[in-house]
Order: sequence, then C-alpha cells, then structure tokens
Amino acid sequence: MADPPLLELRGVSRLYRPRRSLLARSPEVVALDGVNLRIARGESLGIVGESGAGKSTLTRVILRLERPDAGQILYRGADVARFGPGALRAFRARVQIVFQDPQAALNPRMTAEEIVTEPMLVHRDTVGLDRRGRRARVAELIETVGLRPDHLRRFPHELSGGQNQRIGIARALAAGPELLLLDEPTSALDVSAQAQVLNLLIELQDRLGLGYLFISHDLAVVRYLCDRIALIRQGRLVEEGPAAQIFDAPRTAFARRLIDAAPDIEAPLRSAATTAGTNCDLRPPGRPQPSTAAGSLPADMGDSRG
Ligand SMILES: Nc1ncnc2c1ncn2[C@@H]1O[C@H](COP(=O)(O)OP(=O)(O)OP(=O)(O)O)[C@@H](O)[C@H]1O
Ligand SMILES: [Mg+2]
Repeated sequence: MADPPLLELRGVSRLYRPRRSLLARSPEVVALDGVNLRIARGESLGIVGESGAGKSTLTRVILRLERPDAGQILYRGADVARFGPGALRAFRARVQIVFQDPQAALNPRMTAEEIVTEPMLVHRDTVGLDRRGRRARVAELIETVGLRPDHLRRFPHELSGGQNQRIGIARALAAGPELLLLDEPTSALDVSAQAQVLNLLIELQDRLGLGYLFISHDLAVVRYLCDRIALIRQGRLVEEGPAAQIFDAPRTAFARRLIDAAPDIEAPLRSAATTAGTNCDLRPPGRPQPSTAAGSLPADMGDSRG
C-alpha cells in the first residue's frame, strides 16, 4: 500500500457558537465547512482566501489547539485527535507554525537566542541536544535564516520586522520539523522585507525538503512559492489544483477574481535578489520555472545567481 500523506484533513468542520448574552445574540459562525486536504512530504500547498475565510482556524485545528466539530486530521495516517501527550508533543515538534505578525508572536522579554532555544527545551526528548549542542544549533539556525550571531543577543524590539520574522522562522525550524504552517508570514512586512523572507522560505524548502502549508490572501505570493493551491471561501474549499492550472485555467469566478486582485510582486522580488544581504537567492537552480501566466515570474529570474 502507498504511504499515507504527511497530513490529511477529512471533512473538517469548525463552528464558533455565539456566546450567551442577555443583550445580543450573535449568529453561529461556520469557520470551516467539510474541508478535505492532503499534503505530501516536501510539498508546498498554498491556501488562499479573503479575511475571515477560515485560514487561521485551519492552523489551529491542525495543531489541535482547537478541536474540529466534525471530521478528522491525520498525520502520517494516524488520527491526531487520538494522540496521547507524548504523541501530541512529537507531532507538534514535527509540525511548526510561523505567525503573521512576528512582533506579536515573539516574547518581548526574551532575547532572540532564548526564543530560538525554547522549542529545543520544550521538545527535548525529540531534539535530544545538551546545552552545548543547543548553542551550536542556534548559531547554525541564525545563519540559516540570514542573520548574524550578534542578532542573538537582541530583544524583538531591537530588530526590524523582517529580522523578527527570520527569528520566528528559526524558532519554527529549531525542533527539526517536516512541515511548516505559515500563516501569512510576510503580510505584516514591507515590500522588500516581504520579498526577502519569501526568497528565504524558497531556499529553506529546497535545502531542507520541508513541506509548507502557506496561507495568504494574496494569490501572487502563493503562486511564487507553492506547487499546489487551494482556494477557500467562507470555510469551504472552492477550487484546488496545481498552481499553474489555477492561474492558467481557473474554473471558478472566485479564482478569477483573486487572480485579478493579485498584485505585481515581480519587481520587489527582483530587487530583493540584487540587494542580497542575505544568503538567499531567487529560485535556486533545479526549481521548475513558472509559466508565463499572470502573476508568474519572468523566466530570467531563475538565473539571478549568475
Ligand atoms: N474564537 C472565535 N470565536 C468566534 N468566532 C471566531 C473565532 N475565531 C475565528 N472566528 C470567526 O471564524 C471565521 C474565520 O476566522 P479566521 O481567523 O480563521 O479567518 P482568516 O481566514 O484567518 O482571516 P484573516 O485573513 O483576517 O486572518 C471568521 O468569521 C471569524 O470571525
Ligand atoms: Mg488569519
């Protein structure tokens, strides 16, 4: 029998019920409605939808921070709902999240070094490093995300938004994950920091063979990064397919609307590749070139390495 997918969602629904109140009665919200998804090992799946579509709810139910009202989440074929404390901890070491707003997601009282070290302590049994080993790994991770060793002594308020997001990514990598849930990881950043972080994510994926669940409201960003795209609207998946197919032959009016709304991200990405300052390039060699569909990148960008 074929290996089960790394992660699979089967008919996952999540309702938010109104809080009891004498004064007002807010309606029930269907945040997720029968969502079916599969992610293979090393695959990048983009989830695109408007604000309130259920994207962040998806990450919370996957990590079992919230229980779905219906459906199942399977990790390597095993039902996450049935995991005991040990299996759940191991699962959370292997599936890590990067949040939208790095400033808000990082503890302001911890240095970058403490932030990146923390998952190695939480997941000590999985990571299995002593103090020296952890220090060495932090030094390696900081370089991996394109920062310098002296950044480790700084607190989040002493770092830029893009640098903080790199710390957030280093933290997500610390426990040795195989899948990253990236919940709008660049939308709080300015355009050039956004491009640099996207390029870093592409490089990491190629280097580490990571799977990504990349969430965005911006189809152009997802097109740049993902093999497959799923469009979500009001908690329902409305269209799913290879990234090129969604762009070249959208089946729904919703997809066409998102394509029309996708901004031109080519120029900032191109200039990020030339300003460098990081150890990440655009599209490393070997990565398939996108087609010339709307929102894709020009073919010459893959050669920016020279
Ligand atoms: N704790 C909660 N209680 C009640 N309703 C909630 C709760 N969390 C989310 N919702 C509602 O569920 C729906 C989906 O929210 P979610 O945060 O998943 O959207 P999103 O796609 O991540 O949006 P955004 O792009 O703005 O981050 C929204 O209508 C939201 O108001
Ligand atoms: Mg969200």
